[in-house]
Amino acid sequence: MGKIKFVQIEPTTRCNYKCVFCCGRYFDQVDMDFQIFKKVADSYQDVEKFQIQGEGEPLLHPQFLDMVKYAKDMGKTVQTISNGSLFTRDRIIGLLESKIDTIYISIEAPDDKMFREIRGGSYEKLISNIKLFLELREQYQLQKPVLGFAVTIMKSTKGMFEEIIDLYQSLHMDGGITYHFLNKLPFYIRYYGDKVDNQLLSRAETKLLIHENDRLLAQKQVIDLSDHTTGEDYDNVGNCAWLDHGIYVNVRGNAMRCAFDKEDNEFTYGNVMTEPVEAVEARKSQFVNGAIPQPATLNCEKCHVFRRK
Ligand SMILES: C[S@@+](CC[C@H](N)C(=O)[O-])C[C@H]1O[C@@H](n2cnc3c(N)ncnc32)[C@H](O)[C@@H]1O
Ligand code: SF4
Repeated sequence: MGKIKFVQIEPTTRCNYKCVFCCGRYFDQVDMDFQIFKKVADSYQDVEKFQIQGEGEPLLHPQFLDMVKYAKDMGKTVQTISNGSLFTRDRIIGLLESKIDTIYISIEAPDDKMFREIRGGSYEKLISNIKLFLELREQYQLQKPVLGFAVTIMKSTKGMFEEIIDLYQSLHMDGGITYHFLNKLPFYIRYYGDKVDNQLLSRAETKLLIHENDRLLAQKQVIDLSDHTTGEDYDNVGNCAWLDHGIYVNVRGNAMRCAFDKEDNEFTYGNVMTEPVEAVEARKSQFVNGAIPQPATLNCEKCHVFRRK
């Protein structure tokens, strides 16, 4: 296990959307205490990259911008993923002033009807929000934050990836595109209803799509950030990048193996407010070297991260 290189922090589980595949809608709807955020940031002083997002809409946290500024003042690269629905003029200016580096905006289908069916929001509004964001950024003569897309691919949307790339280019977005597949881990599946169960892709389909989507991104010269957490190519990583050098801290301050580990149980590394960072690190080592077994709900073999190998 290497040194921690990236930390993902879940600022909130609250959301204004109800996407069909989102387990966060079944969690307690709470915001992270700012003191927990500070403790994490202070505990991982040397970590370069912070991603501030989890199973909720980050912009709903009343102190989201304070979190970003705190991490930026420490010299970190800060990213988030947003549904993009809350980009009012004031919020955009706040984000510009926060100096956040990258905002990925989630999209599965560049089509009003499908977007509404999946996310429950307006696609047209999303597009006008992105345009306003980029206009204001230009008015303020800033290069950052860069705006990218985060794409969750499912059966009904798998043929739309090229359209999403074209949309990205027509909007003059510049943060790159990261895509991943509808999560197959047992923990997630238990929340899928009929509408989502039949949307899962087989292993063979996933492999083909990785090949095709990477080819499209390269052909259209769009930055491929398909590992949005580490910026690394999993093909070149011996193990899972999360296990090797990542950590996920949930809204309650529990340090977990990865962003897909959602259950606070005996498998967590410990709570950052009550345990010293060394104890959390020691538990992490035990898990990585197999001394702590994997829970059935988080079987790495079923994870799309491992799948990219
Ligand atoms: C949970 S959301 C939180 C940030 C924000 N609310 C948003 O939707 O962008 C983070 C990312 O996870 C993706 N996501 C949510 N549920 C998923 C699932 N079951 N499988 C794969 N990706 C999922 C979303 O599409 C989004 O890109
Ligand atoms: S917008 Fe994000 S957090 Fe909200 S329901 Fe959709 S995926 Fe979940």
